[in-house]
Amino acid sequence: MSQLEFSRHRRLRTSASLRSLVRENFLRLEDLIYPLFILEGENKREEVRSMPGVFRVSMDNLKTEMDEIVSLGIKSVLLFGIPDEKDACGTEAYHDHGIVQVATRYIKEHYPEMIVVADTCLCEYTDHGHCGLIENGDVDNDSSLELLVKTAVSQAEAGADIIAPSNMMDGFVAAIRAGLDEAGFENIPVMSYAVKYASAFYGPFRDAADSTPQFGDRKTYQMDPANRLEAMREAESDVKEGADFLIVKPGMPYLDIVRDVKNNYNLPVVIYNVSGEYSMVKAAAQNDWIDEKAVVMEMLTGMKRAGADLIITYHAKDAARWLKKQ
Ligand code: PBG
Repeated sequence: MSQLEFSRHRRLRTSASLRSLVRENFLRLEDLIYPLFILEGENKREEVRSMPGVFRVSMDNLKTEMDEIVSLGIKSVLLFGIPDEKDACGTEAYHDHGIVQVATRYIKEHYPEMIVVADTCLCEYTDHGHCGLIENGDVDNDSSLELLVKTAVSQAEAGADIIAPSNMMDGFVAAIRAGLDEAGFENIPVMSYAVKYASAFYGPFRDAADSTPQFGDRKTYQMDPANRLEAMREAESDVKEGADFLIVKPGMPYLDIVRDVKNNYNLPVVIYNVSGEYSMVKAAAQNDWIDEKAVVMEMLTGMKRAGADLIITYHAKDAARWLKKQ
C-alpha cells in the first residue's frame, strides 16, 4: 500500500474530541427566532392541526407561552396576529389596538430583553387573504404600500424592535424605511423578506394564520421557485432601499439561494425554515421514521453552513432544549 498516494481524511475523525476540534459551523441559541401566533379573544390555546407542538394563544395565555420561551433561553420572537374580524383592506393590521400591537406592548413591558420582530403583512387581516389591496382582480402594488407603512409604524409605536415586511410588494423596504424615519423610528431595523418564493411549503402556516387566499394564488408577487438570478435582483433592490437584514424563504429547498445572498451582500442573512418543512419532520418523527432530534439539529446546522446567520424556526423550542443539554 505504501506506493499509493492518497489523503487520510479520517485522521481528523477518529474521536469525538477531535471531531469537535475541527468542527466548522455551530448552531447557537442566539440564532433562533421563534414564530408566535396570537389569537384575538380569551382562553384560547389551540394546537395547529398540521403543526403538532405549535399553539395559537390568546392574550391571557401569552404569559405562560413567554415564560416557557424565556426559560429556554430563546432571545427573539416573530409575531403573527389572527384577528376575529377581517375586511378588504386589513384594518386590524394597523389598528393601535390590533392584536400584534397589544401583544407587542405586553411582551416589551414584561420581558423587556426579548427581541420582538413584527411580521408586516396584510394577509392575516384581509378577508380575501391576499397580502395587499385588490384592484381589478389583482393585488395593487402602490396602494398596498401605504397600508403596509401604516402597519409598520403602528408596530414600531407599540414597541416592536424589528419590522419584518413579508408582503413582496415592490418598493416595500423604501416605503417602510421612509415611513419609519418620518415617524421618528430611524433606529428600528427592517428585516426584509427579500427573497420569498411562491411556495407550497407555506400550506400549514395558512392553517395557523387563517390566511389562505380566497381566490387565485400569490404568484404575481411571490417568486417563481425555478429562479435564481431573480433572487439576486430582489436582494439587491432591498439592500439599496435600506434593508438591515435579508430573509430567504423557504429554507431547506433554497439553501443555494442562501449561499448566493451571503456571498453577494454583506447584511445578516436570515433563513425562514417554514411551516411545511416543520410539518414534514414532525409527521415523520411521530411515525418513528426518523430520529427527530438528530434530523432537526442536522437541518439547522446545515442552514448555518449554507450561510444563514439567523434562523426563524418552529423547532426553536426543541432546539433550545437540545442545545442546553449538549
Ligand atoms: C405572510 C407570511 C406567510 C408566511 C410568513 N409570513 C404566508 C404566505 O406568504 O403565504 C409563511 C410562513 C410559514 O409557512 O411558516 N405573508
